[in-house]
Amino acid sequence: MTTDIQAIQDEAVAGIQAASNERSLEDARVSFLGKKGTLAAASAGMKDLSNEEKPAFGAALNKARAAITQALDSKTLELQQSADKKSVEGIDLTLPARELASGGLHPLTIVKDRAIQILRRMGFALADGPEIETEYHCFDALNTPDDHPARNEKDTFYFDGGKLLRTHTSSVQIRTMENATPPIRIIAPGSAYRRDDVDATHLPVFNQLEGLFVDKDVKLGDLKGTLKYFLQAMFGGETEVRFRPHFFPFTEPSFEIDVKLHVAGQEPKWIEVAGCGMVDPAVFSTISDKRGDQAFDPEHVTGYAFGMGLDRLAMIQWGIKDIRALVENDTRFLSQFA
Ligand code: PHE
Repeated sequence: MTTDIQAIQDEAVAGIQAASNERSLEDARVSFLGKKGTLAAASAGMKDLSNEEKPAFGAALNKARAAITQALDSKTLELQQSADKKSVEGIDLTLPARELASGGLHPLTIVKDRAIQILRRMGFALADGPEIETEYHCFDALNTPDDHPARNEKDTFYFDGGKLLRTHTSSVQIRTMENATPPIRIIAPGSAYRRDDVDATHLPVFNQLEGLFVDKDVKLGDLKGTLKYFLQAMFGGETEVRFRPHFFPFTEPSFEIDVKLHVAGQEPKWIEVAGCGMVDPAVFSTISDKRGDQAFDPEHVTGYAFGMGLDRLAMIQWGIKDIRALVENDTRFLSQFA
């Protein structure tokens, strides 16, 4: 009997050692140690033995169980180790880990945040308005007649039903004056849309920052001083700024503002960054009619407005020659600002 047990043990250990994967190892465990396994069947023979034979038989059973368990454990470990080894085959574990790239702000965000910071310090509060606008807020209330080129289908993205993608952030001037009373001092950064062909200086969507100041006795000198201060705070105290007479339907007089751009290896050149002017009394009249009160009576209030291109400011700030770099999401370009 005891020799039978030894035979079972030998067979089991050999079977276990021959197992080539976890599945066949589990099959071997069940067939030798399981409830219906070989060892269980053999131990049933115990009851037919005499009392003298029983202890030796029991000891042989225990020894076989221990040996089989031990064989199972070491085979499990062996299979595990070879699986681990396979999974890192061809990988050099001594190589340094890959660096995790850290993110950074987009140059436009950096410029916008700085512009807002400077202007807020000067007392301007943030205002907002929709990018899908009515013709009234984008044009009519801004004294822009029906036949003005900016209203042309070729220049503006219209929706069915007459709404449009705002062509400038100046619509926020109107929305603000509809809802607040002077003194008003706001800035409104946001997207503007025009049907422009894409080239190095034009995109059909760009970013503006509108400003509006309405109070008693606001003068052209306030406008010039504020914007010159702002641009020098952005680009440095040495920055040259020039105001060129221009025309906008909603301001009178009106100007375009240029900043002298210095790019290494190039002749310095003037680049236009903003439009501005004194709010046209016709705009105040329209607002007064809409409101039905005297808060914006053109006889009593004056104001200035400006709208600047944030993309242009970013191009000046870093000498970026092609506006498309700002929307292409090329990480080789963007990582320079991180
Ligand atoms: N809205 C004008 C533009 O988009 C800029 C501007 C704003 C001009 C405010 C005057 C006053 O070109």
